[in-house]
Amino acid sequence: MKIIAIANQKGGVGKTTTSVNLGACLAEKGKKIIVLDLDPQANSTSALDFTAGDNPSIYQHLIGGGDVSELVLQTKYENLSLIPCDMDLAGCEIEMAREDDHLVRLRNLLQPFKESNSADYMLMDCPPSLGVLMTSALAAADELIVPLQCEYFGLEGLSKIVGVHQQIKESGANPEVVLEGIVMTMADSRTNLSAMVINDVREYFPEVTYDTIIPRNIRLGEAPSYGQSIIDYAPTCSGSAAYRALADEFLRRHA
Ligand SMILES: Nc1ncnc2c1ncn2[C@@H]1O[C@H](COP(=O)(O)OP(=O)(O)OP(=O)(O)O)[C@@H](O)[C@H]1O
Ligand SMILES: [Mg+2]
Repeated sequence: MKIIAIANQKGGVGKTTTSVNLGACLAEKGKKIIVLDLDPQANSTSALDFTAGDNPSIYQHLIGGGDVSELVLQTKYENLSLIPCDMDLAGCEIEMAREDDHLVRLRNLLQPFKESNSADYMLMDCPPSLGVLMTSALAAADELIVPLQCEYFGLEGLSKIVGVHQQIKESGANPEVVLEGIVMTMADSRTNLSAMVINDVREYFPEVTYDTIIPRNIRLGEAPSYGQSIIDYAPTCSGSAAYRALADEFLRRHA
């Protein structure tokens, strides 16, 4: 199992939308996927039609240890599972920060589960901060995918997350973690700004930036309120086409 952090400290850039819908599209293609909801907002939990608080999150395990496999819930979609979140995860930030080993706690906790190979990929939906949960996710991950909104401030935030990635590598906590991809989200084909930002990112990160661009699509915003993935809610919309294309590109890159 490969562990992938979907992270950007900036809020509202499409981390959850990408975790859930890239996950759903990979599952549709037959890959076994687990979405780990690491954000106390519990957005990917509700997007996958679970109620935060009904099932245990990874919180207790992060504090006291345990077997991660007992937290895995089968979603209504074949091949797609979820480790849900609960608001209590917010307490993790504080409690874990007190522990000397906080950076590698998630990594150590996930290790046996990773070796059990019960899925092909785990996608970790990270919270929008540079806090303990997000940095632990980078310390636990094989790869980092950064969703980046096609706007000027998106570009400014990119250097920050790239810097944190470098720090985690150099800290010794996880020297192997690779910046696997940057996914441009919420692109608006009518504006020059989207095109300019995409060009800039491609210029700085030519290898890393995904060719697939996720357009702004109203259906992508609506689907979570029905607890549905985009390919279930609106299978023929531009959002579905984009996330299916992203899944194809992801699989080519991981072949
Ligand atoms: N391509 C898109 N087109 C239109 N709306 C989108 C798109 N991607 C995401 N959204 C909407 O934008 C908002 C932010 O997206 P999302 O929740 O995925 O971002 P996030 O990075 O996970 O946010 P947070 O930092 O709060 O966790 C949501 O309301 C979502 O439905
Ligand atoms: Mg989110």
